[in-house]
Amino acid sequence: MSANHIGFIMDGNGRWATAHGLSRAEGYAYGLMALRRVAKRCEEKGVKAVSVYAFSTENIARPTDEIDAIFDVVRKFNLTYDGKFRICYMGDFSTLPDKLADSIESVEQRTQDNEGMILNIAFNYGGRADILHAAKIAYDHGEFVEDTFEKHLGSSRLPALDMIVRTGGEMRLSNFMLYEAAYAELFFLDKLWPDMTEEDVDSLLAGFEKRTRKYGK
Ligand code: IPE
Ligand code: IPE
Ligand code: MG
Repeated sequence: MSANHIGFIMDGNGRWATAHGLSRAEGYAYGLMALRRVAKRCEEKGVKAVSVYAFSTENIARPTDEIDAIFDVVRKFNLTYDGKFRICYMGDFSTLPDKLADSIESVEQRTQDNEGMILNIAFNYGGRADILHAAKIAYDHGEFVEDTFEKHLGSSRLPALDMIVRTGGEMRLSNFMLYEAAYAELFFLDKLWPDMTEEDVDSLLAGFEKRTRKYGK
């Protein structure tokens, strides 16, 4: 059994930068390079969708210059991306700077007919906020069964989440895809995100194939 949809919690960019004598801002630029490597390898291996945690609803509490650096890296990526992935975003964009929100809309539109893997970027995203948002819609519609509820989550157009991988050594989800995590296989790596290689993807996928998923049966 191979994985269709992988979630990556891309943690450890700041520590990686510090360890290399670089600014945290530079750590995010290297983190983006790792994302390109990892996503490309996932596609080569037949993965249909990759969801990445790029900015949580709680990350807004970080110092302003760090937030600016993250927003800058993401906006530049949105404006210059010319690859074959279908890029989509999930999260709350209403409180983001206009230029960043516009760049999100533009990359989504520009890539929506691409045939490649879906790269879903969780940005200003929180699992709890996403569940609450879906619950409000479900309440308004008077429908509360799993099938219809799931259609209102940020991940609704993606296959079921098979795996969650967190780099950086912490063993927690930090509010990432809480609903979708229900039967995802969890992988925790000590490696810091900017150090991720194609070989790491290969061994994660091999590790996934060895897992037995029981779904309670
Ligand atoms: C995670 O990397 C990415 C973002 C929050 C944008 P960190 O910035 O949390 O890196 P560490 O955990 O401090 O090393
Ligand atoms: C999770 O990492 C968020 C992202 C990777 C974007 P954090 O560094 O924010 O998580 P905590 O604070 O260690 O739980
Ligand atoms: Mg962190």
